[in-house]
Amino acid sequence: MKIQVITLFPEMFEQVLNSSMMWKAQNNNAVTFSVINLRNFGIGPRKQVDDTPYGGGNGMLLKPEPFFEAIKFAKEKSPNALVIAMTPSKTVLTQKIAENFANEQKDLIIICGHYEGFDERIFTLVDQKISIGQFVLTGGELPAMVLIDTVVRLLPNVLGGEDSALIESYSDGDNIEFPQYTRPAEYQGLKVPEVLLSGHHANIDKWRKENYR
Ligand SMILES: C[S@@+](CC[C@H](N)C(=O)[O-])C[C@H]1O[C@@H](n2cnc3c(N)ncnc32)[C@H](O)[C@@H]1O
Repeated sequence: MKIQVITLFPEMFEQVLNSSMMWKAQNNNAVTFSVINLRNFGIGPRKQVDDTPYGGGNGMLLKPEPFFEAIKFAKEKSPNALVIAMTPSKTVLTQKIAENFANEQKDLIIICGHYEGFDERIFTLVDQKISIGQFVLTGGELPAMVLIDTVVRLLPNVLGGEDSALIESYSDGDNIEFPQYTRPAEYQGLKVPEVLLSGHHANIDKWRKENYR
């Protein structure tokens, strides 16, 4: 799976895409990442990417031309990629949406907004708008990283067996994972439930099923 991100702040992705599971996913050839600087497609000597909104209003909007060019550039490398816009919208990211992306393994081109957001015409190039929640962030970079992380960790050969996504929170409807404990068995008077120390697998499974939240 190839994931390309179009952003004004490529440096924000460095650490996140090269750490932990995202690093492992690349290392295991489950995914390749490419971060494209929207500024490279800016207009004129100042590489302008934003302008004032028609009709008045506060702030600046991202202009269509740089995104049209940047998406064209990304599509040359990945012609069948889905274009996803990170934007406050009615479709809020869920585990189910992430599972669908991971199962389909279609390449993705993710576009990040900034300032007051996108000129509406940019959405004519977009297959899906995704929000990460009912709140407004400064830019689409953190939302893009959230989407990438939640999808990529579900790709084959990324999570180890011990991390199996099948029993995680939201893998089965609204269920939240059962409580988990590690050593010591007692800490400051707080005890691990007896059944988990018993070694009796059937009872442990039963307890866990009963303790989904
Ligand atoms: C300051 S926001 C623009 C908000 C926009 N003027 C509005 O009222 O909906 C700038 C950019 O951040 C990103 N963004 C902000 N909140 C987001 C969210 N909840 N989910 C996804 N992207 C978000 C989008 O890319 C957006 O274009």
